Amino acid sequence: MAGTGTFFVGGNWKCNGTKESITKLVSDLNNAKLESDVDVVVAPPFVYIDQVKSSLNGRIEIAAQNSWVSKGGAFTGEISVEQLKDTGCKWVILGHSERRHVIGEDNQFIGKKAAYALGQGLGVIACIGELLEEREAGKTFDVCYQQLKAFADAVPSWDNIVIAYEPVWAIGTGVVATPVQAQEVHVAVRDWLKNNVSAEVASKTRIIYGGSVNGGNCAELAKQEDIDGFLVGGASLKGPEFATIVNSVTTKKVAA
Ligand code: PGA
Repeated sequence: MAGTGTFFVGGNWKCNGTKESITKLVSDLNNAKLESDVDVVVAPPFVYIDQVKSSLNGRIEIAAQNSWVSKGGAFTGEISVEQLKDTGCKWVILGHSERRHVIGEDNQFIGKKAAYALGQGLGVIACIGELLEEREAGKTFDVCYQQLKAFADAVPSWDNIVIAYEPVWAIGTGVVATPVQAQEVHVAVRDWLKNNVSAEVASKTRIIYGGSVNGGNCAELAKQEDIDGFLVGGASLKGPEFATIVNSVTTKKVAA
């Protein structure tokens, strides 16, 4: 069963950039020709969200890379969902592997964050994915299902969620999952949604792939039936290359 949602491409700028480099990136994005039938989102570091919001054209929406788990207040160093909305964010990336494995966020905490953000009207890019040793131990599906279940247990609805399957061994390594490897997990994720949420949610929810996606490998990945877009790290820092990835939707149309 293929997905029925609009192709979705997110650029995760992570902890990169300066005012100057971001001015150039935004200008390249504003000048890029992007296919119309793709939802496009970029996630700048918090401190540059305002700069990006005021200079990027409205074709591209803005995501934050994280958000606090509840209403703001005495939480030093955190950024609340309310503040993100105030600066014009429409989305937030939650459960990214760097937050899970470097910062130590667990499934339940991430589920709570997703529920809070959705409740306040932000869309959530919900990241899941296995470590290399988990893949090698044959646990890829189990790990992804546990991470999905934590989201499912917490969220009131899947209407505003995009799932990003990002195998940790492929993130920032240059080792991209093969189209077959990615498709296999995307099918499993969609089946999980069908069996544990509903057939409607399984067909409507975008399942995007992340992990060393670039201008050269995006077309082959996009052709896969259950790959509904991408979450892009390193290659999203280059405007023209990011545009190529957005426009890989045309490969999908040809394949369909
Ligand atoms: P990458 O990062 O494209 O640099 O591998 C992807 C991500 O972490 O979302």
